[in-house]
Amino acid sequence: MSNVLLITSSPRGADSLSTRFATEIAEGVKARLGATLTVRDLAADPAPHITAAYIQGRVTSPEARTPQQVEAVGNAQTLVDELQGADVIVLGSGMMNFGPSSQLKAWFDHVTWPGVTFSYGTGAPQGLLTGKKVYLVTAAGGVFSEGVYAPFDFQTNYLLHLLGFIGLTNVELVRIEGTVLGPDAVRAAITKAEATVQSLLTEAA
Ligand SMILES: Cc1cc2nc3c(=O)[nH]c(=O)nc-3n(C[C@H](O)[C@H](O)[C@H](O)COP(=O)(O)O)c2cc1C
Repeated sequence: MSNVLLITSSPRGADSLSTRFATEIAEGVKARLGATLTVRDLAADPAPHITAAYIQGRVTSPEARTPQQVEAVGNAQTLVDELQGADVIVLGSGMMNFGPSSQLKAWFDHVTWPGVTFSYGTGAPQGLLTGKKVYLVTAAGGVFSEGVYAPFDFQTNYLLHLLGFIGLTNVELVRIEGTVLGPDAVRAAITKAEATVQSLLTEAA
Protein backbone atom coordinates (compact mmCIF):
# COMPACT_ATOMS: atom_id res chain seq x y z
CA MET A 1 0.00 0.00 0.00
CA SER A 2 1.23 3.50 -0.82
CA ASN A 3 1.81 6.09 1.88
CA VAL A 4 1.00 9.78 1.44
CA LEU A 5 2.61 12.34 3.76
CA LEU A 6 0.93 15.75 4.01
CA ILE A 7 3.04 18.52 5.55
CA THR A 8 1.38 21.88 6.16
CA SER A 9 3.18 24.91 7.53
CA SER A 10 1.25 28.16 7.11
CA PRO A 11 0.53 29.95 10.41
CA ARG A 12 -2.70 31.41 8.91
CA GLY A 13 -4.92 28.59 10.11
CA ALA A 14 -8.21 28.07 8.27
CA ASP A 15 -7.45 31.04 5.96
CA SER A 16 -4.41 29.36 4.48
CA LEU A 17 -4.69 28.59 0.78
CA SER A 18 -1.53 26.45 0.69
CA THR A 19 -2.99 24.28 3.46
CA ARG A 20 -6.35 24.09 1.68
CA PHE A 21 -4.95 22.98 -1.67
CA ALA A 22 -2.19 20.76 -0.26
CA THR A 23 -4.88 18.98 1.78
CA GLU A 24 -7.07 18.61 -1.31
CA ILE A 25 -4.19 17.04 -3.24
CA ALA A 26 -3.25 14.69 -0.38
CA GLU A 27 -6.86 13.55 0.12
CA GLY A 28 -7.29 13.12 -3.63
CA VAL A 29 -4.10 11.09 -4.09
CA LYS A 30 -4.99 9.00 -1.05
CA ALA A 31 -8.41 8.17 -2.53
CA ARG A 32 -7.06 7.43 -5.99
CA LEU A 33 -4.19 5.20 -4.82
CA GLY A 34 -6.05 3.63 -1.89
CA ALA A 35 -3.14 4.95 0.19
CA THR A 36 -2.65 5.70 3.87
CA LEU A 37 -2.33 9.37 4.87
CA THR A 38 -0.02 10.80 7.54
CA VAL A 39 -0.47 14.48 8.42
CA ARG A 40 2.33 16.62 9.84
CA ASP A 41 0.84 20.00 10.75
CA LEU A 42 3.85 22.18 11.53
CA ALA A 43 1.71 25.18 12.53
CA ALA A 44 -0.18 23.22 15.20
CA ASP A 45 2.79 21.08 16.23
CA PRO A 46 6.00 22.90 15.27
CA ALA A 47 9.40 21.26 15.21
CA PRO A 48 11.65 23.06 17.72
CA HIS A 49 14.56 25.15 16.53
CA ILE A 50 17.64 23.01 16.23
CA THR A 51 20.10 23.20 19.10
CA ALA A 52 23.64 22.16 20.01
CA ALA A 53 22.14 18.98 21.47
CA TYR A 54 20.81 18.05 18.04
CA ILE A 55 23.91 19.07 16.07
CA GLN A 56 26.31 17.33 18.44
CA GLY A 57 23.93 14.44 19.08
CA ARG A 58 23.62 13.42 15.46
CA VAL A 59 27.42 12.96 15.20
CA THR A 60 27.59 11.08 18.52
CA SER A 61 27.04 7.32 18.66
CA PRO A 62 23.59 6.47 20.09
CA GLU A 63 24.98 4.85 23.26
CA ALA A 64 27.13 7.93 24.06
CA ARG A 65 24.38 10.55 23.68
CA THR A 66 23.24 12.69 26.61
CA PRO A 67 19.50 12.63 27.47
CA GLN A 68 19.13 16.02 25.71
CA GLN A 69 20.87 14.67 22.62
CA VAL A 70 18.69 11.53 22.63
CA GLU A 71 15.57 13.69 22.69
CA ALA A 72 16.80 16.13 20.04
CA VAL A 73 17.98 13.43 17.62
CA GLY A 74 14.76 11.48 18.30
CA ASN A 75 12.69 14.49 17.21
CA ALA A 76 14.58 14.64 13.93
CA GLN A 77 14.43 10.88 13.44
CA THR A 78 10.62 10.94 13.74
CA LEU A 79 10.40 13.54 10.95
CA VAL A 80 12.89 11.67 8.75
CA ASP A 81 11.04 8.37 9.33
CA GLU A 82 7.87 10.00 8.01
CA LEU A 83 9.69 11.13 4.87
CA GLN A 84 11.43 7.81 4.31
CA GLY A 85 8.13 5.95 4.72
CA ALA A 86 6.26 8.12 2.21
CA ASP A 87 5.77 7.34 -1.47
CA VAL A 88 4.03 10.66 -2.10
CA ILE A 89 4.80 13.88 -0.20
CA VAL A 90 2.50 16.91 -0.35
CA LEU A 91 4.06 20.07 1.06
CA GLY A 92 2.12 23.29 1.66
CA SER A 93 3.96 26.59 2.24
CA GLY A 94 2.75 30.17 2.64
CA MET A 95 5.18 33.02 2.02
CA MET A 96 6.20 34.90 5.17
CA ASN A 97 8.61 37.79 4.61
CA PHE A 98 9.71 36.53 1.20
CA GLY A 99 10.54 33.02 2.38
CA PRO A 100 8.77 30.00 3.88
CA SER A 101 7.44 30.22 7.44
CA SER A 102 9.93 29.65 10.25
CA GLN A 103 7.94 26.49 11.08
CA LEU A 104 8.85 25.02 7.70
CA LYS A 105 12.46 26.21 7.96
CA ALA A 106 12.79 24.47 11.34
CA TRP A 107 11.42 21.24 9.78
CA PHE A 108 13.99 21.40 6.96
CA ASP A 109 16.73 22.00 9.55
CA HIS A 110 15.79 18.62 11.07
CA VAL A 111 15.37 16.57 7.92
CA THR A 112 18.41 17.93 6.03
CA TRP A 113 20.73 15.50 7.76
CA PRO A 114 24.21 14.52 6.51
CA GLY A 115 24.56 10.80 5.92
CA VAL A 116 20.81 10.28 6.35
CA THR A 117 19.02 12.39 3.73
CA PHE A 118 22.03 13.68 1.80
CA SER A 119 25.65 12.72 1.39
CA TYR A 120 28.88 14.17 0.08
CA GLY A 121 30.34 10.65 0.00
CA THR A 122 31.08 10.70 -3.73
CA GLY A 123 32.50 14.24 -3.63
CA ALA A 124 29.39 15.85 -5.05
CA PRO A 125 26.20 16.31 -3.02
CA GLN A 126 23.83 13.39 -3.38
CA GLY A 127 20.22 13.36 -2.17
CA LEU A 128 19.25 10.10 -0.48
CA LEU A 129 15.44 10.35 -0.46
CA THR A 130 14.92 9.03 -3.97
CA GLY A 131 11.98 7.52 -5.85
CA LYS A 132 9.29 9.70 -4.28
CA LYS A 133 6.71 11.98 -5.85
CA VAL A 134 6.30 15.47 -4.38
CA TYR A 135 3.51 18.00 -4.77
CA LEU A 136 4.67 21.44 -3.61
CA VAL A 137 1.93 24.03 -3.04
CA THR A 138 3.20 27.57 -2.47
CA ALA A 139 1.01 30.59 -1.74
CA ALA A 140 2.14 34.21 -1.77
CA GLY A 141 0.53 37.60 -1.35
CA GLY A 142 2.29 38.96 -4.42
CA VAL A 143 3.23 37.51 -7.80
CA PHE A 144 6.68 35.94 -7.96
CA SER A 145 6.52 33.54 -10.92
CA GLU A 146 7.15 36.48 -13.29
CA GLY A 147 7.55 40.23 -13.27
CA VAL A 148 9.48 42.62 -11.09
CA TYR A 149 9.21 40.52 -7.92
CA ALA A 150 10.53 37.31 -9.50
CA PRO A 151 14.11 37.89 -8.21
CA PHE A 152 12.72 38.02 -4.65
CA ASP A 153 11.08 34.61 -4.61
CA PHE A 154 13.02 33.15 -1.69
CA GLN A 155 10.15 30.75 -1.00
CA THR A 156 9.50 28.54 -4.04
CA ASN A 157 13.06 28.60 -5.36
CA TYR A 158 14.47 27.84 -1.92
CA LEU A 159 12.04 24.98 -1.32
CA LEU A 160 12.74 23.44 -4.74
CA HIS A 161 16.47 23.65 -4.01
CA LEU A 162 16.19 22.06 -0.56
CA LEU A 163 13.86 19.30 -1.76
CA GLY A 164 16.26 18.48 -4.59
CA PHE A 165 19.22 18.56 -2.22
CA ILE A 166 17.74 15.69 -0.19
CA GLY A 167 16.82 13.74 -3.34
CA LEU A 168 13.24 14.90 -3.90
CA THR A 169 13.52 15.95 -7.53
CA ASN A 170 10.20 14.68 -8.94
CA VAL A 171 8.17 17.76 -7.98
CA GLU A 172 4.83 19.07 -9.27
CA LEU A 173 4.56 22.74 -8.33
CA VAL A 174 1.26 24.50 -7.67
CA ARG A 175 1.66 28.26 -7.20
CA ILE A 176 -1.13 30.32 -5.66
CA GLU A 177 -0.21 33.94 -6.20
CA GLY A 178 -1.60 37.40 -5.58
CA THR A 179 -3.56 36.48 -2.45
CA VAL A 180 -3.30 40.01 -1.00
CA LEU A 181 -4.07 41.82 -4.25
CA GLY A 182 -7.83 42.10 -3.68
CA PRO A 183 -10.91 39.88 -4.03
CA ASP A 184 -10.71 39.51 -7.83
CA ALA A 185 -7.08 38.42 -7.65
CA VAL A 186 -7.88 35.93 -4.89
CA ARG A 187 -10.81 34.48 -6.86
CA ALA A 188 -8.61 34.14 -9.95
CA ALA A 189 -5.84 32.48 -7.92
CA ILE A 190 -8.28 30.01 -6.38
CA THR A 191 -9.90 29.18 -9.73
CA LYS A 192 -6.49 28.57 -11.28
CA ALA A 193 -5.33 26.43 -8.35
CA GLU A 194 -8.55 24.38 -8.44
CA ALA A 195 -8.05 23.62 -12.15
CA THR A 196 -4.37 22.72 -11.62
CA VAL A 197 -5.18 20.44 -8.69
CA GLN A 198 -7.95 18.64 -10.61
CA SER A 199 -5.64 18.10 -13.56
CA LEU A 200 -2.86 16.75 -11.28
CA LEU A 201 -5.30 14.41 -9.55
CA THR A 202 -6.52 13.06 -12.89
CA GLU A 203 -2.90 12.28 -13.77
CA ALA A 204 -2.39 10.62 -10.37
CA ALA A 205 -5.24 8.15 -11.00
C1 LIG B 1 3.57 37.62 8.61
C2 LIG B 1 3.28 37.64 7.14
C3 LIG B 1 4.27 37.94 6.25
C4 LIG B 1 4.01 37.98 4.89
N1 LIG B 1 5.03 38.29 4.01
C5 LIG B 1 4.77 38.34 2.69
C6 LIG B 1 5.80 38.67 1.77
O1 LIG B 1 6.96 38.89 2.12
N2 LIG B 1 5.51 38.70 0.46
C7 LIG B 1 4.24 38.43 -0.02
O2 LIG B 1 4.03 38.46 -1.23
N3 LIG B 1 3.25 38.10 0.84
C8 LIG B 1 3.48 38.05 2.17
N4 LIG B 1 2.47 37.72 3.04
C9 LIG B 1 1.17 37.31 2.50
C10 LIG B 1 1.09 35.78 2.43
O3 LIG B 1 2.14 35.28 1.64
C11 LIG B 1 -0.25 35.34 1.84
O4 LIG B 1 -1.27 35.65 2.78
C12 LIG B 1 -0.26 33.88 1.49
O5 LIG B 1 -1.53 33.57 0.96
C13 LIG B 1 0.09 33.03 2.71
O6 LIG B 1 -0.03 31.65 2.41
P1 LIG B 1 -1.29 30.85 2.97
O7 LIG B 1 -2.52 31.34 2.21
O8 LIG B 1 -0.99 29.43 2.67
O9 LIG B 1 -1.40 31.12 4.43
C14 LIG B 1 2.71 37.68 4.42
C15 LIG B 1 1.71 37.35 5.33
C16 LIG B 1 1.98 37.33 6.68
C17 LIG B 1 0.87 36.96 7.62
